[in-house]
Amino acid sequence: MNSNLLEIERKRRSIYGLGKNLPISEDEVLDLIADIVKNAPSAYNSQTGKIAVLLNENHDDFWNIVENTLKKKMGPDRDFSRTKAKIDGFKASYGTILYFENKNKVKELQEAFSSYADKFPQYSQHSSAILQILIWLGLAEQNVGANLQHYNPIIDEEVKSKWDIPEEFELVAQMPFGEILSPAGEKEFDPIGDRIKIFK
Ligand SMILES: Cc1cc2nc3c(=O)[nH]c(=O)nc-3n(C[C@H](O)[C@H](O)[C@H](O)COP(=O)(O)O)c2cc1C
Repeated sequence: MNSNLLEIERKRRSIYGLGKNLPISEDEVLDLIADIVKNAPSAYNSQTGKIAVLLNENHDDFWNIVENTLKKKMGPDRDFSRTKAKIDGFKASYGTILYFENKNKVKELQEAFSSYADKFPQYSQHSSAILQILIWLGLAEQNVGANLQHYNPIIDEEVKSKWDIPEEFELVAQMPFGEILSPAGEKEFDPIGDRIKIFK
């Protein structure tokens, strides 16, 4: 089918070969991210999603935190070289987007709408996922590559202290982005009939 959205959806892949030369300006990327954050849907329009965009030494410092945390966790007896190479790959990208969810807002919703209280933490995670995919798609449309990482929760404390992030913000995901240096790998697809049933 001829669809701009579908074209962008196909273009959005997990790109691991990322570099520093963005195809659009840094300001354009930041404007794009801001517009997407503003317009993204969230449960009861709660706007629980918060974002930090790490650039320059902030980006490097973030990946140093990941590296040092993992190194400590793995200990001196395990081979760290593959993990280090992976982290160096993320560090070679242009910047990193950190996705947070505001847990205080989730609590407020639970109090205001008690019959859905047990659902709001889930809705908050859904809202974050929506934000992540919209930004991933928005970047892909501009030929900016990205991938999605989850080094939380082992890095949370240090990240919060380093960038003065409020305690109630929960780190959900990390997204390095940048110039596409190498394309995504082959992707396998389950038969579409196993995933969609049409009743008419
Ligand atoms: C909820 C979710 C969590 C993911 N976590 C990671 C992750 O921690 N590290 C990673 O490299 N990729 C992660 N991915 C990326 C998937 O591996 C990837 O989307 C999938 O293999 C399909 O490839 P594609 O993104 O190129 O279409 C995640 C994707 C989703 C949707």
